[in-house]
Amino acid sequence: MARQLLATKSIAELHEQESTGNQLRRALTATQLTLLGIGGIIGTGIFVLTGTAAANHAGPALPLAFIVAGLGCTFAGLCYAEFAAMIPVSGSAYSYSYATLGEGIAWFIGWNLILEYLFAVATVSVGWSGYAVSLLEQLHIHIPSALSSAPFGTGADELHIVRTAAIINVPAMAIVAAIATICYIGIKQSAVFNSVIVAIKVTVVVLFILFGVSYIDAANWHPFIPPNTGKTGQFGWSGIMGASGVIFFAYIGFDAISTAAQETKNPQRDMPIGILASLIICTVLYVLVAAVLTGMVSYKELDVAAPVALALDKYPGLHWLGIPLKLGAVAGMTSVMLVMTIAQARIFFAMARDGLLPPFFGRVHPRFRTPSTGTVITGVSAAVIGGLFPVGILGELVAIGTLAAFVTVCLGVLVLRRTRPDLPRPFRAPWPWFTCIAGALVCAYMMYSLGAATWWRLGIWTAVGVIVYIAYGYQHSCVRRTVSGAAATPRPA
Ligand code: ALA
Repeated sequence: MARQLLATKSIAELHEQESTGNQLRRALTATQLTLLGIGGIIGTGIFVLTGTAAANHAGPALPLAFIVAGLGCTFAGLCYAEFAAMIPVSGSAYSYSYATLGEGIAWFIGWNLILEYLFAVATVSVGWSGYAVSLLEQLHIHIPSALSSAPFGTGADELHIVRTAAIINVPAMAIVAAIATICYIGIKQSAVFNSVIVAIKVTVVVLFILFGVSYIDAANWHPFIPPNTGKTGQFGWSGIMGASGVIFFAYIGFDAISTAAQETKNPQRDMPIGILASLIICTVLYVLVAAVLTGMVSYKELDVAAPVALALDKYPGLHWLGIPLKLGAVAGMTSVMLVMTIAQARIFFAMARDGLLPPFFGRVHPRFRTPSTGTVITGVSAAVIGGLFPVGILGELVAIGTLAAFVTVCLGVLVLRRTRPDLPRPFRAPWPWFTCIAGALVCAYMMYSLGAATWWRLGIWTAVGVIVYIAYGYQHSCVRRTVSGAAATPRPA
């Protein structure tokens, strides 16, 4: 078994798999990839979590927290870009680790990517539901709270099963179903739909920055770093680090671009452009929003579900921007779900192709050329999870799964530079020793900041993954034939 766990797939074999059989349609350009990235990044994090991060952790120093998290993601993004250009195949970090670190790590990463993408769709659907219900309320359409809230769980830290009036979160389930339908029909249609939504949400974010800036009261920025309360993570420098763990969720999504490598016209050139451009654009927007928001409103008032809308409500001169902003937030979260659904279906596709999941997970629709069954499985699972659980528990699980994948990708790039320096690298991460190690350390620190309860859930999720692997993946893995043959691994690229 150990030999199979360490077995790698050759990169040549990965490319061959990509060019034969179930081919997806190559339709995406660098610009569309960048839009796909922004579509996946700007959402619940900036519109919802910014307030908690400022009020409970960083205070006016929130922009610094965004810079820290953005730096960690940039290092990881450079590593993703190197891998994605070198191995432009479906499956993202899962496929990269299969080609470099062995089947055991690849399974672990693939399993964690499911935690990232599938649960992110569910998480964001809950945030979407909150904004959509509030918008409908303004239009005098009332959705009963029993039909728009989670019946299980009360907060981020405890998985309570409580008896409340809540039955199920219908809007969350409905939006997941709508998104899955769009993804089922096709990637080209999905990219066009995504581009329109990205334009809307970037416009409202930019409008907030441009109009909000003249309402900044510099007194709100003093003290810029409020003194630590005596508890780690509550203000002071540890508060900035704690806030970076919370708002890390805001950056999740850029890595999803790499899962669309097989549908990209020129992946070697376009993948790095898409990943880095979307990350840089979002970091700049986030830092500016954080600075304007904490300048407009005292950080002490920001611990609300819609902090950006609160800042607009405070100034009559900005009321006109309220409804457009909510619409932009709803649109923003919609495109996040779209990108995550696309990514998750492609992870299923790659894992099924390798024999680690049953073949129907990778079935491609004969007419639409999309991984249709994986899309349906993603949609149904995310709808059920989003309908039943609250945003807090789901969000932390997403973050820890994502960070585990990021750490592995950073280390994987370094390992491969040592073990396979000969491989062609159309894009090389600069200063690899620094970039890879700094990326792994910053992401590991953010994992650490997520606390014991989330680590326990990661442990349970991993244990379930190990059982699935032993019961199915180990038996059906495509590299099993190689390992059981005379020429064991690793195979040349
Ligand atoms: N970055 C995405 C969001 O903030 C997941 O919604």
